[in-house]
Amino acid sequence: MKKPTLVNHPPKVELPPDNHPVGAPIYQNVKFEFDDLEQTTRFLRGERAGFFYMRTSNPTSRQLELTLAALQGRDDCLTTGTGIGAVGHTLLALTKQGDHVLCFIETYNPTRYIIRRLLSRFGVTHTMLSIEDLAGIERTLAETPTRLVFFESPTNPVTKIADITAITHLAKTHGALSVMDNTFAGFHQHGDYEIDVFVHSLTKYASGAGDVMGGAVIARADLMRPLRTDFGALGVALDPHAAFLIQRGLKTYFVRYSAQCARAMRIAQLLASHPAVARVHYPGLPDHPQHALAALQMREFGTIVSADLKGGFAAGGCFAESLELFALTSSLGSTESLVVAPQMMGGRDLTPEQLRVSGVTEGTVRLSIGLEDEGDLVADVVQALDATRTRCG
Ligand SMILES: Cc1ncc(COP(=O)(O)O)c(C=O)c1O
Repeated sequence: MKKPTLVNHPPKVELPPDNHPVGAPIYQNVKFEFDDLEQTTRFLRGERAGFFYMRTSNPTSRQLELTLAALQGRDDCLTTGTGIGAVGHTLLALTKQGDHVLCFIETYNPTRYIIRRLLSRFGVTHTMLSIEDLAGIERTLAETPTRLVFFESPTNPVTKIADITAITHLAKTHGALSVMDNTFAGFHQHGDYEIDVFVHSLTKYASGAGDVMGGAVIARADLMRPLRTDFGALGVALDPHAAFLIQRGLKTYFVRYSAQCARAMRIAQLLASHPAVARVHYPGLPDHPQHALAALQMREFGTIVSADLKGGFAAGGCFAESLELFALTSSLGSTESLVVAPQMMGGRDLTPEQLRVSGVTEGTVRLSIGLEDEGDLVADVVQALDATRTRCG
């Protein structure tokens, strides 16, 4: 073998059968081969298991998919390069021209964009209601044949809680699929409900480190099979190195989520007791309007705490800027705390009435609580609130 050939066919290192790595290796590999043509064609005809081309599957992302399906309590999972990739391709794969989608004002902005602006180009219509409008949901589903209901809980940014039993029951009664973006609640929550399809951004709690993006669709096998075909054709696969980082992050998912929730509760209580704050939104607080529903549906209340500052827009911005430990940026679920100021909030696509219904005010600030020392976080929030009162009234 000449050297240019050697570098393209390097010596194989195979582990003895009784010798295993403790962590799974990263299969940073696009192509896989079988020993002969017969096995290759059997695989291509779907007659045997294996891996062939990374866009369809890869052992590293497959391990992550199996983990996530088990965590969420469903048969199967597909991973994607981003969370919004999972949302968009699920909506695309589940709908066709003439279908109707029921969606909500209290939904992640880019998801609203996909439903309202992209799907409509392909003849998919929608109705957008408030997640609290159960009568409207019932009426819409009764009057308009609907392919799917897409919802979140807790909602972004003011942590409204969807009544999952009511929504999934109504969807099922009227022959619609229920699709839930479960990013805020996490993989260990809501699995007991009759939700047909879960989507998640893995960019958030899964890795926790905030240094990698990914998405997931999780559902029962009969729904996943056609999705897998469409996703393979559309080409949204998660890179194996990202899959490895997310899988590694999941090792600490449960301890991180619980510890961050405990800190979030403490910050929510602190904000609720401060004179500069008009209202706090955290489902764990007993005076959250849907606390009882949240307590019924959730084991943990999440790590997002929002607050309406009394001084409105300027005070919200002032508070966000005064925080020293909170990065002034979007995203959530990472081990660093983050803050979204009113100046950074989305919702420009909403009418004034829809904005009012959304619960977002001029002074709404969203905090994503991380894993810093609780005392340090408390001290930082107190100093920022005090600075807001001094500087911005
Ligand atoms: C609820 C929710 N769904 C989906 C996404 C999109 O995820 P990604 O940023 O990984 O595309 C986000 C991102 O913030 C989100 O908050």
